[in-house]
Order: sequence, then structure tokens, then C-alpha cells
Amino acid sequence: MRRSAIARTSEVPESSLDFGMPKTKTVYRCTECGADYSKWQGRCDTCGEWNALVEETIAPKVAASGGSSRRIGGARSLAEGGSVAVTPRLRDVKGSNAQRWKTGIDEFDFVLGGGIVPGSMILVGGEPGIGKSTLLLQVAARLEAEGHATLYASGEESALQVKLRADRLGDSAGDVSLLSETNLETILATSAAAGPEVLIVDSIQTVFTADLEGAPGNVGQVRECAARLMRYAKESGTTVFVVGHVTKGGGIAGPKTLEHIVDTVLYFEGESTLDHRVLRATKNRFGSVDEIGVFRMTEQGLEPVANPSELFMGDRTSHASGSAVTALLEGTRPVLVEIQALAAKAGFGTPQRVATGFDGRRLALLLAVLDKRAGLSFAQLDVFVNVVGGMRLVEPSGDLAVAAALASSVYDRALPSDAIFVGEVGLGGEVRTVSQADRRVAEATNMGMKRVYVAERGIPKRVSRDVELIGVRTIQELFRRLFA
Ligand code: TYD
Ligand code: MG
Repeated sequence: MRRSAIARTSEVPESSLDFGMPKTKTVYRCTECGADYSKWQGRCDTCGEWNALVEETIAPKVAASGGSSRRIGGARSLAEGGSVAVTPRLRDVKGSNAQRWKTGIDEFDFVLGGGIVPGSMILVGGEPGIGKSTLLLQVAARLEAEGHATLYASGEESALQVKLRADRLGDSAGDVSLLSETNLETILATSAAAGPEVLIVDSIQTVFTADLEGAPGNVGQVRECAARLMRYAKESGTTVFVVGHVTKGGGIAGPKTLEHIVDTVLYFEGESTLDHRVLRATKNRFGSVDEIGVFRMTEQGLEPVANPSELFMGDRTSHASGSAVTALLEGTRPVLVEIQALAAKAGFGTPQRVATGFDGRRLALLLAVLDKRAGLSFAQLDVFVNVVGGMRLVEPSGDLAVAAALASSVYDRALPSDAIFVGEVGLGGEVRTVSQADRRVAEATNMGMKRVYVAERGIPKRVSRDVELIGVRTIQELFRRLFA
């Protein structure tokens, strides 16, 4: 068995806390204009911005070693203390894609672009309680099982709490080394002494560096801690995972600023009342973004869901009016989702427009188009649109399904349950083509759908015989075909 002895924090020698970093001093720097102040103040005197000052450390400049002050382009000569770096040719740089570590949790590896790139820093963001700690503990267990020593530093939970969680996840988590600590210097020193290949810090909002006065979780602390972890990752070649809590309003509490520091940003989303969770890459230096991985939260932790469409289509009651299915493209992966619309007689006052998982302004636009081009008036109706399963419809390719669902609800006529709708709706009521229609159709066929309504001009050529492609030019034409 590998030993990554985790010393008690009190036993970590002082000297190992020092990473050769020069003594630092702190300043309060304006995040808007960059002006420095020695004390915090509410308003920046330079640019007038309120609440923009953030505590930061600055390393003192290395004392110039006298000598000539003539510089070419600001470069320091050897005599002045500069050092010469090695400049290998690109083709000589070792390493390849094959070096990625697979965790064996397929959905996780997929979102990262095929596995973890050793030495990278990965931020896992998400609302509290969504399952970030669970996911990372499972990842840690798998990495340990693959022979990559892992240190899980938790600032949120005691070793016992983490153990209780690990027990629910099965035996494999037992070998992960634990550290319950919030002091970043201690975490780094412990990690440097134990030398794991993977360091997990849960969460960045609970750790702090003693070099800054601010409380853990404030922007200055979070940025500084993240920057130090990044430096540690790059200098030691350790893969670092950092958990970041996201507030309801979005944005990792305070630091959107974290995103540019790290290599990869994964967001863990979902309704905490629903079982499934979606892991989404929003930044990836080593893979494509917007790829998603889907998980189900069970008693034994998170389980990858290999076929997301199945999950989102699971509870569909096909014979109700106001339900339409579309095929979204999540990264490179098509996913079928159900859209529900309900148009009901409004009470007094302005009718309501409520959209969940769909942009409210886009809904207003579609309602106007339906009114003007297809003669469907919603003036006296409350309108509710819901993308089922907590998914979000961001691409305009879902317009046609939303329009069909709305019309279906107004006429109170159910849509064919084996049909999907794929197309953008323009202001003239015209149906526009979408990207990669063939892949969407392929997914629909996989899921047993028999009919696809698409823009006439964008009918994909190479598709299975089992599916009928119905080209429509306008929403009027679509409604004629559906409800005539
Ligand atoms: P957690 O990973 O603690 O969330 P985060 O770190 O993002 O705050 O997940 C918390 C939720 O997950 C909690 O409500 C319990 C639930 N859970 C399960 O349903 N099954 C499990 O096996 C585990 C470990 C947690
Ligand atoms: Mg947690």
C-alpha cells in the first residue's frame, strides 16, 4: 500500500510552510482601475467606483543588483540577476493526449475531453448541496484505485463527516488521504510533504491565507488562494481540483475572477429536488466546452447516465396537449427534451408570462410572432412554458417546439407523441435551419421517434429510413399540418 502520511497540522514544520516565496505585503487594489491603497475604503478615489477594492498581496521586487542601467527592451542582463530559461522546440516537448488519466466515471471523463490532464487545475462550481463533494470524493476514490495518490483537503467537513459520506459510496473511497484544514499554507505544506498526484480543495471559499487579513471567502482571499494553488499545481505537477460555491444568482461567489486563473471550469447544475445532475464544461484548455455529462444522485452517490434523452423523456405523458419534444445539442451531444406550454385564461390585470428553462424575452417574441403571423392571440391568456427536467433551452433551435407546444395548448389538441420539432422561428414566422440537424434526427431515431418537423431548406440527407422528415417553411404551414 502506498503511504501518503498526513502529518497532523500542528506537526508540520514551520520551514515547510515557506515555499521560497519572498515576504509579501498587502494592498487594497481597485478591481476597476487597478489603483492601490494601503487601507480599505468604500470608494476608489481614482475612478470613483464603489466597493471595488480587493485585498491583494504583492511580492516585493527583487533588489536590483546594481550595475548597468542600460536595458534593451526592458530585459535584464545576466549580471542584473535575470536568469536564462530553456526554450525547447515545440516538437521536442514531451507528452501526448494518451497521458490523460481516466477515472472510469465515463460522463466525467467525457466532459473533461477524455480524462484528466495531469498537472492541470480544475474548478468545480455549483450551488451548495448539488453534489460537488460527492462527485469529487468519487473521483478521488477512482483515482486512488488507478494508483494516483490523492489528498482530499476539506475545509467544510471533518474527517468523520467525509468518512460517513465515503461509506455510502462503497469501499473504494477508503484509501483517499484526508485533511481537514482551512489554512492554505498548511494545506500546501502538507501536500508538498506527502506528495500526492492529486490535491482536492473543498472549497475555495473556506480556505484562507494568513498573508491577507480578510475573512475566508472574500474576493481577495479567494483569488489569492486560487492563484497560489495554481502556482503549486504548475510547479509541482500536481493535479488540483478546487470546489467553488455558486450563489443562486450565478457566478462563483465573488470570483468569476477565478475562471481565468484555472485551466478548466466545470459547473455542476440541476434542481436539488430532482435526481439528476448535469456537469457542464464552460472553459477547458484541454477540450471542447459546453460538453455535458449527466448523473443521477442515488443512495450510493452519483451514477453516470449514459443516455440523457431517456432520462428527460422518462415521465412523459404523451397524450396531453401543450407538450412538444425537441432535440438540443449539448456540446457535441444531441439530447431530446420535452417542452411544456400552458395557455390558460388570465385573471384581472396583465396576463402572466412565466418561462422556466427558457428565456422570457424569447417567449415574448414568439408570442408576438404567433399572434401576428398565425393569428393566435395570447392577450387574454396567462402563458407558462417549462423545459422539463431542469434543462435549459438556450439555442434558438427549440423555437419550433415551443411554438408547437403553445399552439397545442391553445387549441387543446395533443401533438403526435412520436414527433419532434427542430427549427428556429424568425420574426416573419418563417422556420429557419439549425446546425447539425442530422445528428438531432439520429438521436430522435434512437429514441424511437418517427417524425421530425424541420425547416424545409435544412432537411438532412443521410438519415435512417425509419423516420419521416417533414419540411415546413412557416409556422402557419406547421399549424395547418398539425391541426387542420
Ligand atoms: P454534496 O456533495 O455534499 O453537495 P455540495 O458539496 O455540492 O454542497 O451533496 C449533498 C447532497 O447529496 C445531500 O443532500 C445528500 C445527497 N447525497 C445523496 O443523495 N447520496 C449520496 O450517496 C451522497 C453522498 C449524498
Ligand atoms: Mg460540499
